[in-house]
Amino acid sequence: MAFVAVRGIVKSYTVGGRALIVLRDLDLHVDRGEMVAIVGASGVGKSTLLHLVGGLDRVDAGDIAIGDAQVTAMADGDLVAFRNREQQRVAVARALVMHPAVLLADEPTGDLDEATAEALHGLLREMHRNFGLTSIIATHNPRLAAACDRVLRLQEGRLVPA
Ligand SMILES: Nc1ncnc2c1ncn2[C@@H]1O[C@H](COP(=O)(O)OP(=O)(O)OP(=O)(O)O)[C@@H](O)[C@H]1O
Ligand SMILES: [Mg+2]
Repeated sequence: MAFVAVRGIVKSYTVGGRALIVLRDLDLHVDRGEMVAIVGASGVGKSTLLHLVGGLDRVDAGDIAIGDAQVTAMADGDLVAFRNREQQRVAVARALVMHPAVLLADEPTGDLDEATAEALHGLLREMHRNFGLTSIIATHNPRLAAACDRVLRLQEGRLVPA
């Protein structure tokens, strides 16, 4: 069974009085210990997806489970406790550890020069391996994506193999 199980999630924002549907019936299953890259054009919803998995925002529909925790079923107070459990913000990397077992990184190499980005790739892989993490990394960096176990492309609100 997948450690991170995202089933049929829908997320929309209201922009200028109209609903902008970002994620449409999106599924994502990540096994324990797997490192998955999420790629896709700017504005397609990569950050939105990571925020939902990390419990920073609420889905409109569908459900998200991390291990035994039903993230989408949590009351607001429980969600805060869940997010705070060993949460660490690594400012320079803009990587976010939301859960002791899960690394959610949103464009960790976004602002870095090539050499520093390469070094950070190595560090992320080392953390992933040494801490036995399950990692989901949103990135525009093809080299970082290629170094992951699996690459998924977010397009039209859903994930497809890249
Ligand atoms: N709080 C919000 N209110 C309204 N619209 C939002 C909000 N957050 C995101 N959006 C919109 O949702 C869409 C997806 O945004 P998101 O930031 O998830 O994209 P992204 O794939 O992470 O883009 P990038 O590659 O530039 O980081 C965009 O059209 C964005 O403008
Ligand atoms: Mg983003």
